[in-house]
Amino acid sequence: MFRKIIAPLTLAVAALSIAAAVVGIDEEGECSLDDGGSCEAQKNGSRRRQPKCADKEEECGTWAKAGECTNNPNYMLVNCPISCDSCPEPLDLPEEILDLLDRVSNYGPYQRVEGVDSEKTIDVVRKTVAYMENEIYGEDASHELSEEILEDARGVALINQLETNRAAIGECEANKAYMKVKCAPSCQTCDMIDIDNRCPPLDESVRPGLLPGELNSMFERIVETAPGNQTGEVEIASGMTNYTVHVHSRPEPQIEKGQQPIISKAVDKEQPPWVITFENFLTEDECTHMIEQGRKAEYERSEDVGEVQADGSYDSVRSTGRTSENAWCSFRDGCRNDTIVELVHDRIAKVTGIGANHSEDFQILKYEPGQFYRQHHDYIEHQRDRRCGPRVLTFFLYLSDVEEGGATNFPKLGIAVKPKVGRALLWPSVLNSEPRNKDGRTDHEAQDVIAGVKYGANAWIHLHDYQAAQEEGCT
Ligand SMILES: *[C@@H]1O[C@H](CO)[C@@H](O)[C@H](O)[C@H]1NC(C)=O
Ligand SMILES: *[C@@H]1O[C@H](CO)[C@@H](O)[C@H](O)[C@H]1NC(C)=O
Ligand SMILES: *[C@@H]1O[C@H](CO)[C@@H](O)[C@H](O)[C@H]1NC(C)=O
Ligand SMILES: *[C@@H]1O[C@H](CO)[C@@H](O)[C@H](O)[C@H]1NC(C)=O
Ligand SMILES: *[C@@H]1O[C@H](CO)[C@@H](O)[C@H](O)[C@H]1NC(C)=O
Repeated sequence: MFRKIIAPLTLAVAALSIAAAVVGIDEEGECSLDDGGSCEAQKNGSRRRQPKCADKEEECGTWAKAGECTNNPNYMLVNCPISCDSCPEPLDLPEEILDLLDRVSNYGPYQRVEGVDSEKTIDVVRKTVAYMENEIYGEDASHELSEEILEDARGVALINQLETNRAAIGECEANKAYMKVKCAPSCQTCDMIDIDNRCPPLDESVRPGLLPGELNSMFERIVETAPGNQTGEVEIASGMTNYTVHVHSRPEPQIEKGQQPIISKAVDKEQPPWVITFENFLTEDECTHMIEQGRKAEYERSEDVGEVQADGSYDSVRSTGRTSENAWCSFRDGCRNDTIVELVHDRIAKVTGIGANHSEDFQILKYEPGQFYRQHHDYIEHQRDRRCGPRVLTFFLYLSDVEEGGATNFPKLGIAVKPKVGRALLWPSVLNSEPRNKDGRTDHEAQDVIAGVKYGANAWIHLHDYQAAQEEGCT
């Protein structure tokens, strides 16, 4: 319950320190000596101001005693500032800033804004206030956002509206998906909160990664062309490895007499799904490098997809079915554009024939003894009708040898694959005949690691360009 955040909220500490930065007054309200008296002049036009500060819930005191100010600061510092002893100090501020503070408090909380960008930030605050007063809540506002979206979205969208520091330094563009939705007022993009505005359907002409029937032909080709399984001299293409392919499960090709393969759901259901592994898909050096990239991006407890939010995004939740740690290898911390990581994405793309931008960022995993991921399926229902389309394939990389345990087990198929450094495992989440629809037979689990540490990486490949969809906040 603490996580639910209610706006509007107190205007607090930070805005006051923005103002302080601008007028050159320090925390004690004293002017610095070297600004030629402009601070004194502004002080003359200013008045002393006690910021609003009140607990909003009766239970604030009890929660504070229970340590919630530290455990749930997002909620507590905003809703229980007195109990958390976080009321801002009064400061002398110019009228214009005070007025701005009053007006902005109608829409959300302040953020701490300090440093070199503070002037730009004040400017963003001005624009934000004008935007909210006129274009969103003004008499002549012409947007078509429903009351519901505006109201429901307050919690997620307005709460961050004054992440103005970020807005000031160009994050609205640099980190579009997040900022334009979660900080919509600061980016002046409230229309983007509505997923229907943000994510118009893909053009019909966009070719998906797999058409009906192409799943089987892709696997057939992968098996036939594995370089390590060729007889005679084979040149290993640049960026590729001399991997061999092992088939654990496959559908028998159903060919009409001398004709094309039969593409039908009935056949899909009669025949077992594909499960194959690759030996030496990655070199040991590449594995070590990937593990190191995960360390840099920082391993954290893995989470599952949670509930849909008013803005159409999904939160993530910790579950007892999954105790591993993982790190997302994204562009943001320079992981996805790392040379080796790019090479591995490209290798997977060459093997599957599906562009690397259909792949999610690698989820680099770490399982210590006793850690596991219980039986689940990788297909995510809600993505079926989103721009990225569903996950169609899982390309799993084993980055370490594991002394004991840690196998990937497919309970419905009776297949278990042991970790081995450089090994990869590929299986579909969808049907050959209907690449948008789930093949429920590829449930799997990561069994408990018993001894050693298991490192791995998931590449989840989608029917459509996942990177583009992610950039727009449409996954
Ligand atoms: C501030 O106001 C005081 C009294 O009104 C005046 O004496 C002083 O010169 C003013 N300081 C500046 C920098 O304007
Ligand atoms: C690739 O591996 C196979 C064994 O799987 C071996 O026979 C072949 O010589 C290797 N090719 C190259 C170019 O190293
Ligand atoms: C490829 O070669 C490996 C190693 O020789 C072998 O175990 C495997 O069965 C071969 N795969 C196929 C599809 O023939
Ligand atoms: C990856 O991108 C980051 C910034 O997004 C940049 O700082 C870094 O140099 C890039 N790394 C490579 C290997 O291109
Ligand atoms: C994704 O890949 C396709 C083909 O490889 C390319 O046409 C498209 O521009 C790429 N999209 C992005 C966002 O890079």
